[in-house]
Amino acid sequence: MNDKKIVLSGIRPTGNLHLGNYLGALSKFVRMQDDFDCRFFVADLHALTTHPDPKMLHENVKQIVAEYLAAGLDPEKNILYVQSDVPEISEMYLLLNMHVGIGELMRTAAFKDKARKALGIKAPENDADDNIERDIIGNQTNQRVNAGLLTYPTLMAVDILIHHADFVPVGKDQEQHLELTRRFARRFNSFYKTDFFAEPVNFNFGGEAVKVPGLDGSGKMGKSEGNCLYLTDDEKTLRKKVMRAVTDEGPKEPGQTPSQPIANLFTLMDLVSDPSTVEHFRKAYADCSIRYGDMKKQLAEDILKVTLPIRERTLEIRNDDAYLSKVIRQGAERARETASKTLADVREIMGIRRF
Ligand code: TRP
Repeated sequence: MNDKKIVLSGIRPTGNLHLGNYLGALSKFVRMQDDFDCRFFVADLHALTTHPDPKMLHENVKQIVAEYLAAGLDPEKNILYVQSDVPEISEMYLLLNMHVGIGELMRTAAFKDKARKALGIKAPENDADDNIERDIIGNQTNQRVNAGLLTYPTLMAVDILIHHADFVPVGKDQEQHLELTRRFARRFNSFYKTDFFAEPVNFNFGGEAVKVPGLDGSGKMGKSEGNCLYLTDDEKTLRKKVMRAVTDEGPKEPGQTPSQPIANLFTLMDLVSDPSTVEHFRKAYADCSIRYGDMKKQLAEDILKVTLPIRERTLEIRNDDAYLSKVIRQGAERARETASKTLADVREIMGIRRF
């Protein structure tokens, strides 16, 4: 157990998990649990940066834990926990922030996106006009960008570093945050002349990080895009969503390159269907005999094969509050064992000692 590499990852509880979360992150977690020392958590403190409804937040946390379990994560093999149950994370977040620059945080792509959203302004068309500092400081309205949003990468770095994680399986959109984590680790080490933190890397089973497209012709399935297929969608809902997927008028000549919406359907099919099925529809596209209706029907079936069993188990687990609580308490206890040790060392390194 002890010579296994340490894996850590988390998902923000901002609603039910969608197929993009599953294919991009959760399915990887499940595949890693036998070979690594894995810790997976629900990032509820991170969710606070976008001000969720307090009445919904707790339920959403339970829902994600239930979906973790339903997707096949074993609470005995892994440490499954909720971020806010580990107060050591919050303390170390304060300490690490002393070595993080506000400039580098402001230049993070995810921050700029969310800050502009909070201020209700659009990103400039031209990169040269990009001046997020001016947009924020010069802002005259009563809209504000909260400091938690700015320091999001510090908190994420602490999630990772407090476990001394080697691998952090995340989607492509998180790679910049991971890069910052490595930078903060190096900076801490060099400032205190130690080799305390290792530098964590993404993990993709040798392949590329996957990007799961939406069915509306857009490049990404996401909550804010409003184009999600949820793991909890029932059969009828899911079929309906897939059948409504955006297509085009069909290939006009043999061997044509598919348009974006059609390419997206093929990408999804690559992720959930048999290679022979994908091959069949690719051929049909190439010789112009394809009927998108047939392709969508097949795609819906193959997605349901993945999601329906998870949906059913999630419903069962959500009905067993006692079991969920037991899993979450046990996870917190085990996560705190490592976290408190790392925090004690960090305090010692930084010169904070008890009297
Ligand atoms: N930022 C991640 C996301 O939005 C969630 C997250 C928070 C995370 N802390 C993490 C992921 C630590 C991996 C490791 O998806």
